[in-house]
Formats: sequence, structure tokens, C-alpha cells
Amino acid sequence: MFMRGPHDPIRIERAEGPWLYASDGHKILDAGAGAVVVNIGQGRREIAEVAARTIAKLDYIVPVWTSPEREKLVERLTRWTPPGLARFYFTSGGSEAVEAALKFAILYHKARGKQSKSKIIGRRFSYHGNTIAALSAGGSSRRADYEHILLDWPKIDPTYCYRCPWGKTYPSCEIDCATALEKEILKQGPDSIAAFIAEPMMGSSGGVVPPIKEYWPKIREICTRYNVLLIADEVMTGFRLALGGAQQVFGIDPDLTCLGKIIGGGLPCAAFGGKAKMMDLLAPLGPVYQAGTLSGNPLAMAAGIATVRYLAGHAVEVYAGLEKETAAVAKGVAAAARDAGIKVETNRAGSMVTWFFTGAPVTDFATAAASDTEAFGRFHRAMLDQGVWLPPSQFEAAFLSTAHSSADIEFTVEAARKAFASMLAARN
Ligand SMILES: Cc1ncc(COP(=O)(O)O)c(C=O)c1O
Repeated sequence: MFMRGPHDPIRIERAEGPWLYASDGHKILDAGAGAVVVNIGQGRREIAEVAARTIAKLDYIVPVWTSPEREKLVERLTRWTPPGLARFYFTSGGSEAVEAALKFAILYHKARGKQSKSKIIGRRFSYHGNTIAALSAGGSSRRADYEHILLDWPKIDPTYCYRCPWGKTYPSCEIDCATALEKEILKQGPDSIAAFIAEPMMGSSGGVVPPIKEYWPKIREICTRYNVLLIADEVMTGFRLALGGAQQVFGIDPDLTCLGKIIGGGLPCAAFGGKAKMMDLLAPLGPVYQAGTLSGNPLAMAAGIATVRYLAGHAVEVYAGLEKETAAVAKGVAAAARDAGIKVETNRAGSMVTWFFTGAPVTDFATAAASDTEAFGRFHRAMLDQGVWLPPSQFEAAFLSTAHSSADIEFTVEAARKAFASMLAARN
């Protein structure tokens, strides 16, 4: 039994494959893939070695200039991401990449003489990172206090970001979400909207809900019609759902893309990128200032190159393997819930899965929000007691890595059976 109090965090001393080793002696199976970073498992020798070699060269401490590593990672990202993405600019984390993309979108319009295009539309309850602009664009994780803080933030215009709900229907007016976006653009005035930012599917704030087929083509068409830049936040899904990210899977053609997590192989690295013509506006080629002391540092670049090289070199086995394993674990846990008589809806896309504690299909945020979050909390704790770590919110996804063996899948399903049994026992 893995017991701990609320002020007693789990301290991980060592990790290997999908297993985490806590300082109190517990061994935990990581079904959160190191906060989505490691889709090929922890402790990869290829990445550790390349990072060690870069440190040994001792020139990693001068990150400000460009380096062969930086150029090589850009080359690899552009090779594997969809064709529209010709240039990338690195940052140290996903939040910073999103912030830079939002700022860039506004300055891009200004550089083209559209001074008034300064608002960003985001989708309600999306998570795009922890900066003020990113939180404003998304509204973060249903935290009313965040919304309050943001609206009181002195430098932020309260109308800076409108929050548009995700899903098939707009709750109050029974129209689809793409039409809701168009309505909002028209309401705010197309001349005031710089960009629309969204995750390709509901993922980091809501749990897994893939978009309906018609959604992205319609969004693309609306953004083009009103000269609104379309920003795909693929910090979570990039190189996870496919080499070309979720935009490859769902056929999205964004103007700007944010990547993070996997592209640094566990080191601080993220990026935003776009079509060459747009990215030429960035300094030093263009007038839009962008800088970061640690951005693109050779150590993170080296780890990113090793990770992307591995993923590209083993793409078939990596992505087919993740698909198979995650399907098995999704099905196994769903069956365990059914056998226990606990209502759970399972949504999955590639190696991302959410078990929603609800009896009705989850197709949008409203149906996700109907889940029994208390029951999820009990499940999360019971799984931890059984030695499996799941991301701690009902509105997130669990992630597998290629390091999960079939024995690990069976371990997870068995843990779920025991977790559901303990939930029933506590209820009776
Ligand atoms: C979709 C999305 N965007 C942005 C971020 C922020 O990235 P970071 O935590 O690296 O700042 C996250 C982090 O989980 C995310 O899931």
C-alpha cells in the first residue's frame, strides 16, 4: 500500500523504462510518461550519452549563438512535421513557446499594417501553459481564482482573449464550435482578432476528446476568411500522436505551431514555428524581437536531436506499438470498470487515454464536465496504492510509452481491478 499525506510529495530518485523508484522504496509504474515528455520511456541510454558528450565538450555553456545542434534540430523538426512548418524558434519550455507565438501573431499583423489586430481567441478551459497570456487565452483548468486574477491583471485588457468552448455545440446557442468561433470574430470585429489558438484535440484540459471530422477544415476556412492566424498548440501532441503530430492525424493546416516536451527528450526545450515567409519577420531577419538566454542551448538541442532521430528511425514500431499497447490498456481498464459495475467512458487517441467517470459518451467539454470527479480522485489514489501513477485530474490524459511491456499493461489492468474493488468496498 502506497500511503502518503497531502504534504508529503512522492520523491523520485531514479527512473528506468516505465518505472519510477521513489526514495521511500516504492516502485511506481508511470502512466503519465514523465508529464508526456518520454514517449520512449525513461532513462534512455541514447539520450543520456549524447547529453553527456555535449557537456563534455564544455561549449554548451554558450547558448546565445546559433550552433550546429540548433540547426540540426530545426532541420529534423521541419523534416518530420507537416510541410507548412518551415522555420522554428526555440524556447526553454512550452509556456514560453505559446507566449512567443501569441506575441508573434499580434506583431505579425502590426508589421503588415494591421495595428488593431491585437486580440487572441482561445477555447474555453484549454491549457496552454502558465504565462498570463497563455492562461488568458485558455482559461486554464477550471480554476475560478485564475480567471479572477487574470481579469484583474493591470496590463491585460479584459477583452484580450475570448474563451470559446470546445466541442460539437456551443452550450447556450446550439451551434457547432466552428460557427461559434466565427460569431465571436464577427462580434469582436475581424479587425481586432490576431489569432485563434487551440490544441488539435481536447487533451490537456478536458481529457481526450478528438475533434469531429468537419471541425478543422471549417476552422481553417474561417481563420483564412477573417485574416486570423491559426495557432496549433502541439506541446502535448507533437511527436506523440504521430511524427507529424496531431495536425498530421487530424489534417490541420495551422499558420503557427507550438511544440515542447518530447522535442527536448526531457531537457528544457520547446519551439514555435511557422511558414518561412512569416518566420522571416522574426529578429534578426525581421522587426519582431524574440530572444531567450537559454533558448536553443546545445545540451537541450542534443537531447532533442537524439529523441527525434530515434522516433523517426523507429517510427513504425514506435507509433504502431503505442497504438497497440494503449488500446490494450484502455480496453482492459474499461472491462475492469464494467465488471465492477462502475460507469466509465473510455476515450483514446494513439497513446493518450482518458477514463471518464460518467455513463454517457464524452464528445465535448460539457459531457466531460459531467464526470464524477470525486470518483476519479478515489480511482487515482487507489491506483497509486496499487503502484500505478496516473495524471491526477479527471480532465487530463494518461500516456503510455514504448517502454511499457505487455507485463506492464497486465499490471496496470490488474491494478485497476483492485482499485475498483477497493472503491466498492469503501462504498459499502
Ligand atoms: C497543450 C499544452 N500547452 C502548453 C503547455 C505548457 O508547457 P510547459 O509546461 O513546458 O511550459 C502544456 C503543458 O502541459 C500543454 O499541455
